[in-house]
Amino acid sequence: MASYEYDLVITNGICVTAADIASYDIAVKDEKIVLLAPSGSLAQADAEKIIDAEGGYVTPGGVDCHVHLEEPAMFGKGSSSDTYETGTRSAVAGGCTTIVGFAPQQKKEPSLLKALADTHAKAKGNSYCDYGFHMMVGNPSLEALSELKTLSENEGITSLKIYMTYAALQIRDDQILSVLLEARSNRMLTMIHAENGDVLNWLTDQLESQGLVAPKYHSTSRPPILEAEATNRAIALSSLIANTPILLVHVSDPGATLRIRQAQTAGQPVFAETCPQYLFLTRDDLDAPVFEGAKCVCSPPPRDKASQDAIWTGLRNGTFTVLSSDHCPFNYNDAEKGKMTCITAENPVGKFREIPNGIPGIETRLPLVFSSGRLALAKFVEVVATNPAKLYGMYPRKGSLIPGVSDADIVVWYPEGRRDITITNEILHHATDYTPFEGRQVGNWPRFTILRGKVVWDRDNGGVVGKKTFGKFLKRGASSLDRIWETVEEQGAFDVAAL
Ligand code: URP
Ligand code: ZN
Ligand code: ZN
Repeated sequence: MASYEYDLVITNGICVTAADIASYDIAVKDEKIVLLAPSGSLAQADAEKIIDAEGGYVTPGGVDCHVHLEEPAMFGKGSSSDTYETGTRSAVAGGCTTIVGFAPQQKKEPSLLKALADTHAKAKGNSYCDYGFHMMVGNPSLEALSELKTLSENEGITSLKIYMTYAALQIRDDQILSVLLEARSNRMLTMIHAENGDVLNWLTDQLESQGLVAPKYHSTSRPPILEAEATNRAIALSSLIANTPILLVHVSDPGATLRIRQAQTAGQPVFAETCPQYLFLTRDDLDAPVFEGAKCVCSPPPRDKASQDAIWTGLRNGTFTVLSSDHCPFNYNDAEKGKMTCITAENPVGKFREIPNGIPGIETRLPLVFSSGRLALAKFVEVVATNPAKLYGMYPRKGSLIPGVSDADIVVWYPEGRRDITITNEILHHATDYTPFEGRQVGNWPRFTILRGKVVWDRDNGGVVGKKTFGKFLKRGASSLDRIWETVEEQGAFDVAAL
């Protein structure tokens, strides 16, 4: 077998990292980036494969740390339409090379380890991209909390998500404190879904008593103040456990954003995530004819134009550390597991309370935001790849292009000049029967997606050319927050008397 100096060379690209934009060639060997060289200098290199980027942008592969795949019913009546296989296939077609999904613990389960084992069984051998898991903690029992040490130290699970809403997952404030304290001791990042579940249930009852059950009332039942209140509460609770890092997920509301910004300015380790649905959809999308609005039912719900602008500003000014998809797909036209499970004879327009919450978006995240022109490209890379890798303990292996240390996870975009690709569900690779972004035009799309040096997506020659057995489980380390973890170490045990 011929032996080459390099496995892959990418020449003639404009490389964008979170730190800079410059023209250089990239050489790959044994799954790693091994050399950055002057532009064009590797065009004749001894390489098994040479990709000419033709002056197009070259970025690190996307890192999407908020993805729901193959989960049971927890967010209303339906369950996931995408498996690990179909979800990660869709990921690579949209330029994403790493995902972090969820290992969901049900309320009836005292242990987290079983949920983790079940999720491993689903993903192993079924992933087109590299993957990790967050624990989704539905029952913070003593047993579950005692398992965080093993999860973090032995299993590579260094983050968990808790919920302030959803009957299947909502935990009380005192339980939140117990989780935050135990997470801190184990160098774990706590992701928080901040909406006031009790109040939104009360509002839902009120709406139902007046017969207001159509999809658009999902938004009415979850006004922005519910998100702002819960965000404030989460930040207040976390301040009691000094130096426990939290991440507010899928933030949609300017009020919540402002509270997060204040906490950050005050020096609290508070991080935040937003998603394309809060940049490109509004509550009007839930008011589509008949039941179509259900396609955009997610929580928190999309808000208004002014909120979109505030979220874009929050991305630019650093309030949001990461931009994830929150891919949580349910088929639309499916009365057994999808959005239509809530349609009954007496409610032909469905009951929004039961519509499964969540929308697909793993494949459209990068093209939508890259093409928007609303983020500088280095900032784009920072929030979709570099920061997620840092925050979730995968940097610098993932999220960058550093020779010798970064995996060769790379996206080659088309050369500039608008391409006007229309997003339709037909062009996507998930197993979901719709996209909430149907009909939108984007000016670019990943031309090649490369995972550990292998081309896994070649848009013009074969589409998805990777294999579902190629994706590897990533044992993650602690967040790159060294100073915080050191301070925790210096602080010692939680001292309630010092409050
Ligand atoms: O509507 C949403 N966001 N569904 C996914 C579940 C979650 O809370 O992230
Ligand atoms: Zn959530
Ligand atoms: Zn989610």
